[in-house]
Amino acid sequence: MTSSKDEKDKKHELNQSNDIMRRKLEHLKIPIEYNVQHKENYFEDIKLLHHSAPEVNFEEVNLSTKFFNKLISAPICITAITGGHPISKEINETLAKAAEKEKIIMSVGSQRVGLIDPDSIESFKVVRKVAPNIPLIGNIGIGQISSPDFNLEDFEEYIDMIKADIMAIHFNALHELVQDEGDISYKNFRKNFRLIREKYKIPIIAKEVGTGLNSELTSVLDGLGFDGFDVGGTGGTSFAAIEERRNKYNSEKYTRNPAEVFREWGIPTPVSIIYARKVSQKPIIATGGLRTGIDIAKSIALGADLGGFAYKFLLTAWDDIKNHSGDTTLKEIVTLKNELRSSLWLMNIQNIEHLKLNTKKYVILGKLYQWIHQK
Ligand SMILES: Cc1cc2nc3c(=O)[nH]c(=O)nc-3n(C[C@H](O)[C@H](O)[C@H](O)COP(=O)(O)O)c2cc1C
Repeated sequence: MTSSKDEKDKKHELNQSNDIMRRKLEHLKIPIEYNVQHKENYFEDIKLLHHSAPEVNFEEVNLSTKFFNKLISAPICITAITGGHPISKEINETLAKAAEKEKIIMSVGSQRVGLIDPDSIESFKVVRKVAPNIPLIGNIGIGQISSPDFNLEDFEEYIDMIKADIMAIHFNALHELVQDEGDISYKNFRKNFRLIREKYKIPIIAKEVGTGLNSELTSVLDGLGFDGFDVGGTGGTSFAAIEERRNKYNSEKYTRNPAEVFREWGIPTPVSIIYARKVSQKPIIATGGLRTGIDIAKSIALGADLGGFAYKFLLTAWDDIKNHSGDTTLKEIVTLKNELRSSLWLMNIQNIEHLKLNTKKYVILGKLYQWIHQK
């Protein structure tokens, strides 16, 4: 016989799972239906230097690179978007098939719901099923690591769920702050992370979600034992803008909606790449407002290892699901590769290694210049 405590726990878990499902669906639909992109994009302030007579053969420009010792065909990552909801399964399957075909890296969205609601696990597992060979990045939040209910063994379940090659812990303080009942206490984070670090050998990266990592925190996280970073700066999707659409703020308490006021808060992605590279030699993914293969080239010239895209691939996957195909996502990856290869060729650069931190190949102008020359 089940006790009333068990029943209460089950009911609580069901409510939690329903809440997460609703939130997941809203997070997917809002960026598609509304403009929740940051207003400024600092990649425009980087100019790559043209070379009028490239001596390398276009076809011989080599985009392949290694990330945590895994060879991929190009420095492109489908960054964390989703998991949990039935529609997330379709999105993840579509993206993973394309990523496998084009041999690039892919991440899943936060896996927390996978441990709360077993029915949702398939939306994550499907990724490894259709993409057996590419490196996959798992994902959980700083909120889960910091929770009083933190359970060290859960980390292993997240890894196993997708047979992850790398795990990401996402840092989304602003997002949590402007949503109802967000997790905004990270006091246990360092202590619990150390336990994870001692027990698990898998590479773990620290990932921002659109507000950017600064040098100080990057340095601390590097020292704590993180193996890499996804700087997730401003310039692309704004989670405050998403929450502005989702939540009715408490107008009895405040005269203004915090989600609206903090819509543009954060460190631009190019600045965050420079900040992170200044203090760490570890792998860096540049995500947040990248739009084309030229932005990947700019990111790598500044010191990143990969360019990551979430919003762009959310749109292509949505399109593919509507049209019962995988063509748009595949074509987008091929397009990014062509743009990146063209950028290298037009700078007379043969491979990704020669582009990395190549300060002779770019000029920084405008507001971005001002950002990075502040004392
Ligand atoms: C619909 C949606 C859901 C996301 N969910 C997650 C998530 O679960 N975990 C995470 O680390 N980042 C998540 N992100 C953040 C992205 O991985 C990325 O850092 C951010 O959107 C900036 O990249 P973009 O400008 O290319 O969209 C999500 C982004 C979008 C658009």
